[in-house]
Amino acid sequence: EKIVLSYSGGLDTSIILKWLQDTYRCEVVTFTADLGQGEELEPVREKAESLGVKDIRVVDAREEFVRDFVFPMFRANTLYEGQYLLGSSIARPLIAKHLVNIAKEVGADAIAHGATGKGNDQVRFELATNALDPSIKIIAPWREWDIQSRTQLIEYAEKHQIAIPKDKRGEAPFSIDANLLHTSTEGKILEDPSEIAPAYVYQRTVDPLNAPNEPETVVIGFEKGDAVSVNGIARTPAALLTELNSLGGKHGIGRVDLVENRYVGMKSRGVYETPGGTILLAAHRGIESITLDRAAAHLKDELMPRYAALIYNGFWFSPEREMLQALIDQSQTYVSGEVTLRLYKGSANVVARTSVGSLYSMDLVTFEEGSGTYDHHDAEGFIKLNGLRLKSWAARNGKARPG
Ligand code: ARG
Ligand code: SIN
Repeated sequence: EKIVLSYSGGLDTSIILKWLQDTYRCEVVTFTADLGQGEELEPVREKAESLGVKDIRVVDAREEFVRDFVFPMFRANTLYEGQYLLGSSIARPLIAKHLVNIAKEVGADAIAHGATGKGNDQVRFELATNALDPSIKIIAPWREWDIQSRTQLIEYAEKHQIAIPKDKRGEAPFSIDANLLHTSTEGKILEDPSEIAPAYVYQRTVDPLNAPNEPETVVIGFEKGDAVSVNGIARTPAALLTELNSLGGKHGIGRVDLVENRYVGMKSRGVYETPGGTILLAAHRGIESITLDRAAAHLKDELMPRYAALIYNGFWFSPEREMLQALIDQSQTYVSGEVTLRLYKGSANVVARTSVGSLYSMDLVTFEEGSGTYDHHDAEGFIKLNGLRLKSWAARNGKARPG
């Protein structure tokens, strides 16, 4: 018997590792992915070794993450509840996929994760696992053990001599999740949504107030809906997002402080920093604005909130997400070209766009004299027929106002 654990090297998953070894008395294999969280992963290996792990898997999954998860999602302009770019949500299916593959390879019959019993992440890990391999068991220590709070967790760590990292305030840190797409911070003082988040919560963006006084222009190239270059230089997906992150971070772009609805029923307050993703979303909308037909664009916009909810709720690996993805991907056939944005004190604004597949017609739209494909007289009948029912409605309202 073996268990594959999603291991970050942090306090929670180190305690989970110890607890799994003690409770299940079987070999624990650890899996740690480099998703661009910006931390050295060698210490994670050492930590796992010190806790007696023989089979330690550390994988650089940055390109896979951006290419196979982030980019497909960005083709849809995905936002959950109008604001959240799903930086944590989209990473969970990738982690689950690796856990399942390792479990198959080493002959493990269970995987374990460190998500709490109150959040979305448990749902995402487990639904993805169900969809990828229905035979694999899932162990969620936070739902099984009798540790009920962070305070008890720290007591457990002290009892078992597991080192406890401290943040600047000498307390247990916030609940932080970071990767190439975002950093999310939840818990502690942020749990009170009436409290303004202190400045030290932010990790990868400057306060827009302190951002450079000079705007910066960036040109992003797209091919079939995916960003492929920055300022004319071709980049791999992860390298591209890394570069946009540093530009966005420098200009204070992508900070969001929100209250969201978790799938499990409660509202939660989070602070998100998505610098590169925020630039990318604006740029993608910019290139779509000239390359997508109106009805196609509007249909995408109608479906987007449903697609976002599927990802938020943990249904990345599901028939309905795959169906929507096929539709979204098909819409991107001509979404190629270049978008110029101006970055300035927290905002990323599109200032120019060009595409060989553009549907934009200067000749059609011009207020100057065009070549005659548009006949002004057609507009007259068009408005008349559209106005017909409005006239009936207004006339009825005038006559038969309810007493
Ligand atoms: N609330 C966000 C979401 O559900 C962020 C979750 C962060 N996860 C974490 N383990 N800290 O996607
Ligand atoms: C957790 O519960 O582990 C983090 C928060 C979430 O998953 O929503």
